[in-house]
Amino acid sequence: MRIIFIGPPGAGKGTQATAIVERFGIPHISTGDMLRAAVKAGTALGKEADGFMKSGQLVPDGVIIGMVRERIAQADAKGGFLLDGFPRTVPQAQALENALKIDGVAIDAVLLLEVPDSLIVQRITGRRNDPVTGRIYHVEFDPPPAGVAVQQRADDTVEAVTKRLDAYHKMTAPLVPFYDGKGILRRVDGVGAPEAVTGRIEAALA
Ligand code: AP5
Repeated sequence: MRIIFIGPPGAGKGTQATAIVERFGIPHISTGDMLRAAVKAGTALGKEADGFMKSGQLVPDGVIIGMVRERIAQADAKGGFLLDGFPRTVPQAQALENALKIDGVAIDAVLLLEVPDSLIVQRITGRRNDPVTGRIYHVEFDPPPAGVAVQQRADDTVEAVTKRLDAYHKMTAPLVPFYDGKGILRRVDGVGAPEAVTGRIEAALA
């Protein structure tokens, strides 16, 4: 199964990916996680991406496309994968299609997680992560247990999220008609309890 998750920042892509990859036994490929690991490791890629990420802008297509091509060529991704946060622009989607064509495969489903902008700022500014396990929490909706030392992402500020939402509407939303035209887009309501959203995704993939 080759799946893509699309949705605004804070729609719940990372939260839902954890449940879905377990169900299908496929790797979770998050370009945001890969970029944050590169920033932390201080690689050339990380140094290039850091400023764009902190300010809520997209990292240039050329950088991202090469990174994803390498990742999906790895052995664990040959039988399928869940892409979270990629593609984010039409050129990224076209590059992905071309890369998969070489192997004679294609994307099976694109899940669009729909959450109104009015809920996004609350979700993003309340998010906390466990740096050890990668588990995502929310101070109000899913508080971390006592004793877990959580962190807040550098781009989870009101200022950066406003720019990220703007980038989503300008650069990523055109992927909706792009994939709808190919007949593989599935719209999923991302509002409600996380377990309810997981059920809707499973139904959309059935
Ligand atoms: P990335 O890491 O991909 O960030 P994003 O798309 O903005 O998505 P988020 O990770 O913020 O949100 P999410 O949808 O995963 O929500 P989550 O499950 O955590 O990208 C970061 C940056 O990297 C970009 O801005 C860009 O600079 C760069 N980048 C990455 N990929 C790129 C690409 N392809 N091209 C160019 N640049 C790229 O949930 C959020 C919060 O809500 C959590 O606290 C969670 O507990 C809570 N929550 C989740 N579900 C629910 C629910 N149902 N009800 C209530 N609360 C919920």
